[in-house]
Order: sequence, then structure tokens, then C-alpha cells
Amino acid sequence: MEERIWVAGHRGMVGSAITRLLESQGRNVLAVDRSTLDLRRQSELETWLRANRPTAIIFAAAKVGGILANSSYPADFIYDNLTIQTNVIHGAHKAGVDRLVFLGSSCIYPKFAAQPIVESSLMTGPLEPTNEWYAIAKIAGVMTCQAYRRQHGRRYISVMPCNLYGPNDNFDLQSAHVLPALMRKFHEAKLSRAPEVVVWGTGAPLREFMHVDDLARGVVCCLDSYDEYDHINCGPGMDHTIRDIAETIARVVGYEGSLVFDASKPDGTPRKIMDSSRIRALGWKPKIALEEGLASTYQWYLRHMANRAEAETQSA
Ligand SMILES: NC(=O)c1ccc[n+]([C@@H]2O[C@H](COP(=O)([O-])OP(=O)(O)OC[C@H]3O[C@@H](n4cnc5c(N)ncnc54)[C@H](OP(=O)(O)O)[C@@H]3O)[C@@H](O)[C@H]2O)c1
Repeated sequence: MEERIWVAGHRGMVGSAITRLLESQGRNVLAVDRSTLDLRRQSELETWLRANRPTAIIFAAAKVGGILANSSYPADFIYDNLTIQTNVIHGAHKAGVDRLVFLGSSCIYPKFAAQPIVESSLMTGPLEPTNEWYAIAKIAGVMTCQAYRRQHGRRYISVMPCNLYGPNDNFDLQSAHVLPALMRKFHEAKLSRAPEVVVWGTGAPLREFMHVDDLARGVVCCLDSYDEYDHINCGPGMDHTIRDIAETIARVVGYEGSLVFDASKPDGTPRKIMDSSRIRALGWKPKIALEEGLASTYQWYLRHMANRAEAETQSA
């Protein structure tokens, strides 16, 4: 049968990186915009699946956001994510799609999990409270894949990425994750010649970040060669302090003012890094070093802002 891989969420940061990779490998990718198909609408989704007959699905559609968005809109986060993932996984089974890769997040793990976090620490302790609605939905997604494997023999798997960054990231300060939010703050501070940029917390927490193109290679590696009940972590296995990350972004952006760490703001978990030895055993390893990845992401951001400004001028 001819391969037809539906990348759900193809316009997002992760979905667009996976689409770029699959297309560069000459593979047949299916895509549909949210304006044509809202994945919360089960019957429309099932009609679309019957008409388009994917042979595999990479499920990169989700309602995603940083701490502020998660804590302001918990109902949206749990409703959208539970609904779209249940619709897609159940719909895939009904349409006879045998292969599906569900994307979760490292926030599924307990707040105080032993570091580096191994896959088996799932559900061994309480979650980080700021994004527990999102995390619960993602845990349900992992278990939904396992349930369809157990009951129906479907080859559905789940991949847990670490924190990601790269082209098509969300730079909106109200909903962005920490890294794009810092990049935008430093960029704007450079333009306005602001003498300092305030970074929340002490800068001491350690976090694991990966360029989204490295994740895309990990996901496609799993699509092609991982077929187990258990979910699988995907991260570089190397962490950096928030201070280090902020200083690297400032350097890449060319911001020459001072960085002020506001220790009155919460730091969160002191360290969060995953054990990704399982995916490394499949032959995957990350290729993009942090500073190189941040520099290319900043170039993407500048082009994106220029394109947006040009589009606004033309429509005015
Ligand atoms: N970003 C990270 O740091 C990170 C880290 C770990 C894991 N992940 C996981 O990777 C996956 C993708 O994340 P991302 O960062 O690429 O997010 P993103 O950039 O916000 O992309 C999400 C995509 O989902 C689509 N979508 C959301 N709701 C939809 C709906 N109701 N109907 C149809 N499409 C819908 C969006 O469509 P529109 O384009 O139309 O809005 C968008 O294309 C998520 O499962 C996330 O948990 C992300």
C-alpha cells in the first residue's frame, strides 16, 4: 500500500518540522488546516479520515502554552487536548489506521521524579500544579494509545519530548514558553535600547532544551522503528541553567544591556532532565548545539517579523 502519513497539527512548531523532514525524505504527507477540520468535531474528523485514508498518523496537534496560559485557561487546556486526542486515536482505529505516533510532553512526569527521568516514573507522584490539566490530558493520551494496542492490537506509540524551540515557535508573550519569550524580550530591549531585561527567578534551575528539527528526526525514527507499549523519551540528555540560556539568547540577539534575575519570582523544579537512553539505542542522537540552534531560530524570528510587517503594509 502507498504510504500516506497524516501530520495532524502540520502548521505548529513540531508538526511543521516533521512535515519538512518527511518531505525532504520524499515521503507522502497529508495535511488539513484547522479552518477546514476542527479536530474537536468527531464526526467531521471521521468523515475526513474515511475520505483521505492515511496509513499512519503523527499526532502533533494540541493546545499548547506556557505557565501563564495553562494557569489562566485550565478548562480550555483539558477540554481541547482530551477531546482532540480521543477523537483522533479512536477515529484512526475506526478508519483502520494501524500506525500512530502520539506526542506528549515531559510535564507528564511527577514534579519530584528522580533525575534523569526514566519512562517508568510516570504516575509515581504528584504533578507540577501549574500545568496539571495539560499533563493529565497527555497522560490520558499515552494510556489511550496503550488501550488500543492492548484491546485492538493497534501499533500506536507515544513519544515524550523535552522542552523544544525552533522555527514556528510561539513568540506571543501571553502564551509563549520561556525560551521564545526571552528571545522576544531581548530583541525588543535591543531595539528600544533598554538598559536591563528582567528574567524571572534566580536563574539557577536546570532545564533540557532541544531544537525541534532534532525532535522531528526522533519522531520519524520512532515511526519507522519503535513499536512498544511503553512511551519513549526524546531529549539531548544535557541541561543548562536558565541563566546560561538567558545569557546565550542575549548574545545571539546582540543585546548588550544587563540581565537582572528577579529572585522574588518562583523558580519551579530545581532540575528537569529526561533519560533518553531508550531512543538513543534505536540509533537517534541530536545534532544541533544550543547556541547554533538559538542563532538560526533568531534568524527565523527576524524573517517572520519582516514578513508579517510586509503583509500588514500590503493589506492596509
Ligand atoms: N513546544 C514545546 O516545547 C513542546 C515540548 C514538548 C512536547 N510538545 C508537544 O508537541 C506537540 C505540538 O506542540 P507545538 O509546540 O508544535 O504546538 P503548536 O505550535 O501550538 O502547534 C499545535 C498545532 O495543533 C493545531 N491544533 C490545535 N487545536 C486544534 C484543533 N482543535 N483542530 C485542529 N488543529 C488544532 C494547531 O493548529 P493552528 O495552527 O490552526 O492553530 C497547530 O497547528 C504537542 O503535543 C506538545 O505537547 C511541545
